[in-house]
This record gives sequence, C-alpha cells and structure tokens, in this order.
Amino acid sequence: MNLKKITALMIGAVMAVSMAAPAMADDKVETVTDGKLTVATSPDFAPYEFYSIDEDGNPTLSGFDMDLAQYIADKMGLELEVVPMDFDGVLSELSQKNVDLGMAGLSPDPARADAMEFSDLYYKGGQSFVTVKDKADQFKTLEDANNKDYSIGAQTGSIQLDLANENTPDADIVSLPKVTDIITELLTGKMDGAFIETAVAESYQKNYPDLEIVCDVPYDTEGSAIGVAKGNEALLKAVNEAIADAIDDGSIDKFVADATELAAGQTYEGTLDENGAVPEADAADDAE
Ligand code: ARG
Repeated sequence: MNLKKITALMIGAVMAVSMAAPAMADDKVETVTDGKLTVATSPDFAPYEFYSIDEDGNPTLSGFDMDLAQYIADKMGLELEVVPMDFDGVLSELSQKNVDLGMAGLSPDPARADAMEFSDLYYKGGQSFVTVKDKADQFKTLEDANNKDYSIGAQTGSIQLDLANENTPDADIVSLPKVTDIITELLTGKMDGAFIETAVAESYQKNYPDLEIVCDVPYDTEGSAIGVAKGNEALLKAVNEAIADAIDDGSIDKFVADATELAAGQTYEGTLDENGAVPEADAADDAE
C-alpha cells in the first residue's frame, strides 16, 4: 500500500468516527456507577414509595415512584439500584451527586434548584392539613391550628415543613424524619395536626381511618418531579423522555392505580436493616 492510499484510508476512518460521534455523545449518559441507575428514595410515603408485604410475608419496596424508576432504567438499558433512606438524606445524597436520581414524591422547590435539576412533573397533587377524628372540630380552618398549644408536625427537609412555618408559626412545630412517624404521633395523640401531601394522607387514612383530612393547604407547585444530579443534562433529557413516554402510553396511570391498591393492603412502616430485613425488635413487636 502506498502512502497516498494509507492517508486516504485514515482520512476516511477519521471521518467515519467524527460523523458517528454526535449521535454517540447524545446516547451516552454518565451515571454514578457505569451500567446502573442509582436512585435514592424515602419509603415512608405511600402510594409513592412504601413497603408492601409480599406473599411470603416479606416487606418489598413498592409504589409508583419505584415502578417509574424501573421503567426509566429499562428505557435507558440500565440496571436499577434503589437506595432507601430518610427524605432529608435523599436531598443531601442527590446534592452531593452520590446518586443519579432522587425519586421521592419530590416537589420542584425553587429553593432546591442549586442542589439538583428537576424533571418535568409526572404526577399532580396538592397539600393537606391532617388531624384525627376526635380533634377535627378544633380545626375548622388552618388559622385554628396557629396556636401555641398545638403540636404540629411535618417531615424534616420537606416543603410541608415550610408550609407549617408559614401557616402555623405560633404553634409548636415538630419535624420528624419519617412521615410514618408523624402518622403514629397523630394517632397516639402526641401531635395535634400535621402538614402532609394529600395523596399520601388519603393513602394512610385508608389503613388508619382515625385520620381526618381537615383542609387543603395552598402551595405553588401542584405536582412532583424527579430530582436529577446537578449538571447531568444528558440524564435529565433521558429522564424527561421516559416520563413523556410513560404518560403517553398510560404506564403512569397504571403505576398509580397499582400502587394505590397495594398501599391499601398489608404494608410495613418501619425501616429495614442493612440486609433488607425487618429489624429483630420490630419482628418481635409484630409477633405479639
Ligand atoms: N413533596 C415534599 C417535598 O418535596 C415531600 C416529599 C417527601 N417524600 C418522601 N418520600 N417522604 O418536600
């Protein structure tokens, strides 16, 4: 082969590579772990994410966020890895880019915009003020709750805590890391009221009919988005495409219907140990 031919071949090869490059760069999404989609969630938030009890009696991570996470991972050809933690942990792990996505019924709160990207909304919902049946008479309006004699709860790090501070600044505002603990405090009378997302309040009310949703609480964004690691534009684009597909093909509606039904059945409301098992103390409680 003479020099001319080699040069021509090389130019041809370079052109082939450069022509293919834009398409490849577009498809290639970088994730925390190659080949995996790592998602942080906070499973205290039925029907978004919670533990349902499967046929063998084992708690299984469920909910429409989890079905959507699997749908997105499948679309992207990635293996899904979900990491359960408290909600404030989801926010901090995502802002530190230790995970790719936060899927936790997350509100696209402008105050979080420096820490993460927001996907398009995939679910619409509102906010509520919740108490128990016995106390419902005391809370005709939200103003009634703004009283120093009341203990009012909201989840740590959540927009509901902001709503508590805005609407009931005079009350004794108590923030707890898990929504399920707030439900327990309401039911045992330790807390008088709480700010909870409406769909979540309705879900727990099915299992705990003593809960009473008193009124709607106004909030700017009536919906949930996926938190995406800051600056990962390619991932954000892929996530938005998958959300659009899931809305168009009816998957989201199905995920919500399935999760709502599952959440009304047997659930586990504690935290699992590092092996994904029910901690022994809880298992003993259940056996009693
Ligand atoms: N939507 C609220 C927020 O973004 C609460 C989300 C809580 N999520 C959960 N899985 N506990 O602040």
